[in-house]
Parts: sequence; C-alpha cells; structure tokens
Amino acid sequence: METQPKLLIVDLGSQYTMVIARTLREIGFRSVILSSKKAGEWLKKNQPKGIILSGGSASVTDANAPEVPSCVFDIDVPVLGICYGMQYVAQRFGGQIRSHHERREYGKATVRLLDDRLFRGVPEREIVVWASHGDSVVDMPQGFEMIAESPATDAIQAMTDGTRIWALQFHPEVTHTKYGKDILANFVVGICECESDWVAASVIDGIRSEVASVSSGKRAIIGFSGGVDSTVLSAIVAPVFGKRLLALCIDTGGLRKDELAEIRTNAKYAGVYLRVVRAAKRFQLALSKTHDAETKRKRFKKVYGRILEEEAKRFGAEFIMQGTLATDEIESGKAGNAALIKSHHNVGLGLKMDELHPFRNLFKYEVRDLGTELGLPSSVSHRQPFPGPGLYVRVIGKPATAERLSILRWADAEVTAILRKHGIYDDISQLVVGLLCVRTVGIKGDGRVYESSVVMRAVRTLDFMTVTGYQIPEDVRREITDAVTKHRRIVRVFYDETNKPPATTELE
Ligand code: XMP
Repeated sequence: METQPKLLIVDLGSQYTMVIARTLREIGFRSVILSSKKAGEWLKKNQPKGIILSGGSASVTDANAPEVPSCVFDIDVPVLGICYGMQYVAQRFGGQIRSHHERREYGKATVRLLDDRLFRGVPEREIVVWASHGDSVVDMPQGFEMIAESPATDAIQAMTDGTRIWALQFHPEVTHTKYGKDILANFVVGICECESDWVAASVIDGIRSEVASVSSGKRAIIGFSGGVDSTVLSAIVAPVFGKRLLALCIDTGGLRKDELAEIRTNAKYAGVYLRVVRAAKRFQLALSKTHDAETKRKRFKKVYGRILEEEAKRFGAEFIMQGTLATDEIESGKAGNAALIKSHHNVGLGLKMDELHPFRNLFKYEVRDLGTELGLPSSVSHRQPFPGPGLYVRVIGKPATAERLSILRWADAEVTAILRKHGIYDDISQLVVGLLCVRTVGIKGDGRVYESSVVMRAVRTLDFMTVTGYQIPEDVRREITDAVTKHRRIVRVFYDETNKPPATTELE
C-alpha cells in the first residue's frame, strides 16, 4: 500500500463518487478520490495512469459549478468523464449543453452502444443503465464522436475524441447499470493500461503497518458494536496492539434482543478484550424529551463521545480507533463535496484525542471481504448492519422511552425469527423494524384500542448508497402481521418497500 494509486477520481460532488472507487477495487484497482483543488496539487507530485471525473449535482451552466483543474487536460493521461464529468468536458471543449431541470432524467434508461474500445466485449448492444442528470450534451465538441445513444431519442449518451478523452452520460459505477463494471474495466485496463493493485491481504497488511507506525507502544480503545466493521477492524489490529487494546461496547439501551451475547462472541472471534459499559440510563435521559430525528442523533453522538473519552482516560488510551466507513463519511458530508444527509453517530465526534479511521475509504462490501480473508465466520463477515443509535432511531414520532424501546425490541425479535424461519433473513441486506407512534384505532378482544403500529422494511443492496426495497412474500407478511399485532399496544403493521433514493435505509 506504500505506492500511490494509479487512478485519480476528481470528485465533482456526486453521491456516487465513492462508489466509483469501490467498483474499481472490485475489479482489482485502487484509486484516490480528491476534490478539484486537491487533485491539482496531487497531480504536481504524482503520475496517474487514468483520471475519472465524477458526476455531480450542479449544472455546468451554474455560476459556481465545480471546475476541473486544467492540468488534468494538459497531461497525457486518459480521462473518463461521468455524467457531470461528461457535460464539463463537452462545455470545456466547445460543445453545447442543454439544461432541463424540469425534466431531470432519473433512474433506469436504455442506451445503444456503438463500436468503441470502451465497450469492447460487452455482449449486448442495447443495455440498461442508471442515469441521473438535469443537463445533457446536445452538440459535441469538434473532434469528438458519439459512441452511445438513446435508441428512442438519439440523444448523445457517450462520446470520445478517440485518443485521450471518453465521456459517459450514465453512471457505469452503479450496480443498476448492466455491464458497468466491464465498461470501467475497459477504461482502466484497455485504455489506461493499469495493472491490478488491490488484493485484500495486502490491504490488511497496509492497515496493520499504518496503525503500528502511529501507535508505537501507545494504548488504544476501539468502539466495538459487534458489527462487521468494528469486528473486522479489531481482528486486524489486535495483533498489532496485544494487551494495549481495549474494545469498548456501550450498551446504550437501544440494542436488540440477545445482542450483547452476540457482541461478546464476536469480540472472542476478533481476539480482543471487551469491556461493556452499561449506559442505558444516560442515553435515555438525554433522548427522552425529543422525537426529532437529527436532535436525537446529535444528542446520542454527544453522550456516546463523552463515554468514549471517559473510558479512554480510564484505560490510559492515547487514541481511539473506529470502523467508520466511506459511506458514513459521505452521508455525513465529510467526504469530498457530498452533502450532509444525516449525522452518523461515529463521524466527527470531535474527541479530545486522536481518532483513527482505517476503513474511511472502504465500503461495507470490501470490509466483508477482509473479514473472509481473515478467516472470521460468515456470521461476522455477513452480519447485517445495525446503526449505532440503534432502536432509538427506530421509534418514530414520539420520544424513545424505555417502554417504547422494549415494545420495539420485542417486535424486532418476532419479525427476525419469522424471516429466519423462512430463509429470508440471509437473503436481505438489512432488516429495519420501527415503531410508529402515531395512534390509530383498532379492536382487541371486544374492546377499542387506540395505539401504535409497526413498520417493517427489508432492503437489498451492495453498498447502502442505493438500496432496493424488498418485497416480502404474502404468506410471510401475513404471519408477521398476525404475530406482531398480538402485542396489546400494536394495532397495525405497515410494509415499506421504498428504494433509496428517495428513502434512506433507516426511518430517521
Ligand atoms: P441510511 O439510513 O443512511 O443507512 O440509508 C445506510 C446504512 O448506515 C446505517 N446507519 C448507521 N450506522 N451509525 C451507524 O453505525 C449511524 O448513525 C447510522 N445511521 C445509519 C444504516 O443502518 C444502514 O446500514
């Protein structure tokens, strides 16, 4: 991991920028993601073999639209513009862009591929792609030719100058784009002539040496939730620290049924010493008077950070390690130009001690690979994620009191058991069971009840940047509804099949 990656991704403000990097790693290549400003600096000292211009939410016609440093076009390195990146290239070299914000193309589209080395080996000529843009190129710059079009409208979907610049209107990095990976591989291998440089084992070694070089004899704590990220990270760094590492599990009162036992087991797999801090009362006190999503998350984060600091001091730790992922960074507005979506509990804690986030550029998918490489059981490597603020962000509309948390904990366990019994649990990426505290009327026994409901959501995804709502089979839904409404305080069950976007995975 000492050498710099050979691929530079210039982040022009897309939510998918990290997904480009992840997809490149899937096909065996590392990359570095930098904002325009930093990319210019980086290029003074480094020689990439290829440059990718990401998408972005702005319009190239906006006054403050993100710029690509001109050195990108001055050096003799192949460039691939994606979406905004394509519009930027078109405008820069004298093409014409049309903005049609009122008719933003968003979602799946079909494109017809023409003959070009970017599409070499793609077995179909008409493919489904993922598009998300308000601008399009209506006139290509001189010297460019169209290499993909919309079958219905003849709109320009891809273009090249045939020597150094390629550009795609759609997103090859998103899993919804069929053969997107092949297209990226054609760019990286066929056009940039890169050699594979991402292997899980070498990533593990790289993290160990990074951590060893900064820790040198010091003590550290690691936030341990028993989830895939903290367990895999613990397993990676445990040999570096030995007894100088304390894994800390904070029992916030928002854990699911039997979760503590699972956390203890996973700490054993990871080979770390675990301390469980019982802090349910502190969290409930801080959160019991609000039902606002962001207020809850911010208060949660504050208490969480304070406990970490107290425990670190007690252990004599000089720094804290966390399994924060690229996704957390993107959604908390910390990565590149991506916008703030929600405050993740473990990003930007502002602790009065050094924080180390060795997974900050990785996606869940890659961390799972590292877990497998380390020989961790699949109950760890394939464990569904569970948010740090836990059941607190799944009690909706009223404050998450101990009683409401306990009703939700019960409902979650019922739903989980039924999904496991039908073999569905392992088929989905994440289950989200929430307690909707808007009261509706029902009948229980012979009497009227006026109580809460449960919402259940199952999603499938590779990286949680986008998710697909999962449709639970009808008979299983019926079984879940019957089981959950047995509780005297639950009147109805709602099934949420919304994709992300527009919905996030969690309800808050
Ligand atoms: P969203 O709701 O943003 O969630 O689509 C994406 C993934 O992140 C998890 N998530 C969190 N994980 N702390 C975490 O450790 C958090 O504050 C947090 N919020 C969401 C979510 O469960 C899903 O897997």
